[in-house]
Amino acid sequence: PAPLTVLGIETSCDETAAAVVRLDADGRAHVLSNIIRSQASEHAAFGGVVPEIAARAHISLLDRIVQSAMEEADTGWDDLDAVAATAGPGLIGGVIVGLMTAKAVAMAAGKPLVAVNHLEGHALTARLTEDLAFPYLLLLVSGGHTQFLLVEGVGAYRRLGSTIDDAVGEAFDKTAKLLGLAYPGGPAVEQAAAASVDPTRFALPRPMLDRPGIDMSFAGLKTAVRTTAHAAAPLSPADVGDLCAAFQSAVADVIGEKSRRALSLFSEAYPDTPPVLVVAGGVAANGAIRQRLSQMASEAGARLAAPPARLCTDNAAMIAWAGIERLRDAAARGERIDDRAVPPR
Ligand code: KG4
Ligand code: ZN
Repeated sequence: PAPLTVLGIETSCDETAAAVVRLDADGRAHVLSNIIRSQASEHAAFGGVVPEIAARAHISLLDRIVQSAMEEADTGWDDLDAVAATAGPGLIGGVIVGLMTAKAVAMAAGKPLVAVNHLEGHALTARLTEDLAFPYLLLLVSGGHTQFLLVEGVGAYRRLGSTIDDAVGEAFDKTAKLLGLAYPGGPAVEQAAAASVDPTRFALPRPMLDRPGIDMSFAGLKTAVRTTAHAAAPLSPADVGDLCAAFQSAVADVIGEKSRRALSLFSEAYPDTPPVLVVAGGVAANGAIRQRLSQMASEAGARLAAPPARLCTDNAAMIAWAGIERLRDAAARGERIDDRAVPPR
């Protein structure tokens, strides 16, 4: 197969990111550059992402970040086979900035545009970093989504179950805000939990574990954190650490058990395929959750594939890679991709 070099652009939330990924002729992938500029400091004072601030920051940063990604990869515009950009879902202002920049580059360089679904970027990342064939079970845990998907091929995703209310990342962010921790909440909660002296002091519920199936719920857990925090107020830093540890272990218990059940569903669907659980999305950067999943997977006789933390949270290498996957998949069918006419989704 022909080698493919793709510039990826990601601007759907509060990271302004560009990356160049190359698939060489023997099928090996290389991240030639992967530049991520987090806007967290611009949003911190508001306790969450402010869409207009995000869009404006993408405008002021993105062209130079694209340039740096190209320079670091030592790639010229002519060396590119395509430009890939997140076309949604996400904050519309940021998506427009990234998509229009990608269109402009694609037009000037005379290359096709690949419009990438952000979730597909997360879903395929593990194939960038390790040898992983379809089908596999995916646990996607990000700020906006929490779901189990059967990944059967490029563009072939079947949803098996999901949260019925908050996404896990959202629960981390809201818990952090409630406890006065810095934005973004996930890493702050993980850090506070790591410093916990008595991680079993507070007892929090494990929502929906008593119910069959693999759907999840995290809104009640967040409420339980609030009730517990009020009862223990005023909270010392030690209290906050213990409460974060209790929250994190409740989440890990729920995710661990639901993943175990999801793996048996996978094996029912594919009895002859060695089961693989892939975890992706920002929450997959969490060490305690990764460890719980890894322990559960080894007990269940399954393999856990977890991309390095830097590729779990939003980045453009995953967008470039999803572009490569789609181009390669299309080429195998003798088709070409050019999404120039695709609107943001
Ligand atoms: O995938 P992502 O970067 O953006 C979305 O597509 O949503 O995920 C962001 C989410 C946020 O809710 C953030 O708090 C959470 O992932 N997150 C974490 C950690 N790092 C990021 N949650 C728990 N532990 C972490 N270390
Ligand atoms: Zn994401």
